[in-house]
Amino acid sequence: MSDSLSSLYGGRGIAVTHGRGSRVFDTAGREYIDFFNGHGASLFGHSDPILTDALQKASRAVWTSGAGFESPVREKVADELSLMIGGGRVFLCNSGTEAIEAALKLSLILRKGRSRILACRRGFHGRSCGALSMTFNPKYRDPFMPLMRNVEHFSVSDLAENIDDDTAAVFIEPVQGEGGVFPLAEETGKKISDACRRTSAILVSDEIQSGLGRCGAPLASSITGLDPDIICLAKGLAGGLPAGATLWKKDLGDFTPHSHGSTYGGNELTASVSAAVLSMVMHTDLPLKAAESGMYFRSRISEIESSHIKDIRGLGLLNGIELDIPSLSVVKALQKNGLLSLTAGPRTLRFLPSFAAEEKDFDNAAMILKKTLEEF
Ligand SMILES: Cc1ncc(COP(=O)(O)O)c(C=O)c1O
Repeated sequence: MSDSLSSLYGGRGIAVTHGRGSRVFDTAGREYIDFFNGHGASLFGHSDPILTDALQKASRAVWTSGAGFESPVREKVADELSLMIGGGRVFLCNSGTEAIEAALKLSLILRKGRSRILACRRGFHGRSCGALSMTFNPKYRDPFMPLMRNVEHFSVSDLAENIDDDTAAVFIEPVQGEGGVFPLAEETGKKISDACRRTSAILVSDEIQSGLGRCGAPLASSITGLDPDIICLAKGLAGGLPAGATLWKKDLGDFTPHSHGSTYGGNELTASVSAAVLSMVMHTDLPLKAAESGMYFRSRISEIESSHIKDIRGLGLLNGIELDIPSLSVVKALQKNGLLSLTAGPRTLRFLPSFAAEEKDFDNAAMILKKTLEEF
């Protein structure tokens, strides 16, 4: 393996060359059930025919015209996204971090004069210095301190009572992913939404991992009591190509001219795939199926008799299993046994199956997990 790439990522030790649906194959021809899916970005699985077709057609037209130009496909994507927030405004970008950064800047513009930004303990919102200010994990933050001043972290249950008239914005994930897979209780979500409404603090829902049907609804906010003013999306938005979006309620206002921007955001190539993604998320029963598949998967896992399993949590296709052993070593062993997964903290395994996963994939994944835990 070349040592030219930064060693940031540790390394999985295999190269994945191709995939179909819920499966990927490495250079040695080994097959894996993919419940990793590029950190959840391959939400539709691999080589989805509708997305592949959209990409192929788009590749023969203009790839990037520039965000100031009119573009039917970009406008189609914006119109669909706008509907998700009840008729709102949309900024298109290229990643989750960028979607958060836009939400942060927009909040600072719209609530100028307010000094506090609130976020959650265990929350994850990205790694640029702005997004990192809201991310909780000290391991990610400490090397870069001081980050943005005035960001305060509270446990999800203490958040509502700490929102006041000096709060510009509140950042929250409907389901904390990286922080250990903790779905927000609906009652808590409602309290947080009410407190934001009462104080006019802007509620930002980070749906970068939970959104677009993964958790059983187009937006997980709708099933966790959140009524956000701003929503951030990325990951599955272009089925694995870099794409992100920040959507906000129209009556909130807008960016001041030239206060933000992006060279590639909303480029025609990825927007064409996003248009296909959104028509499937918004106009088919994929989110409903995701809810059912997730319940089925968790029920299969709950049948595993292993003293290492301490808790099973999840919503739809965002699932976590808390263990009493280091999760990274289990992720590595699962990979050897043909199942790709990821961690969500030191003792929690995370599974991000795609919409392409079928009952037999969940059965096989549960079987591989059982066998793997027996090895520990
Ligand atoms: C909830 C959440 N927010 C933000 C991000 C950052 O997204 P990206 O890696 O696309 O910048 C992630 C990525 O895992 C995420 O899960």
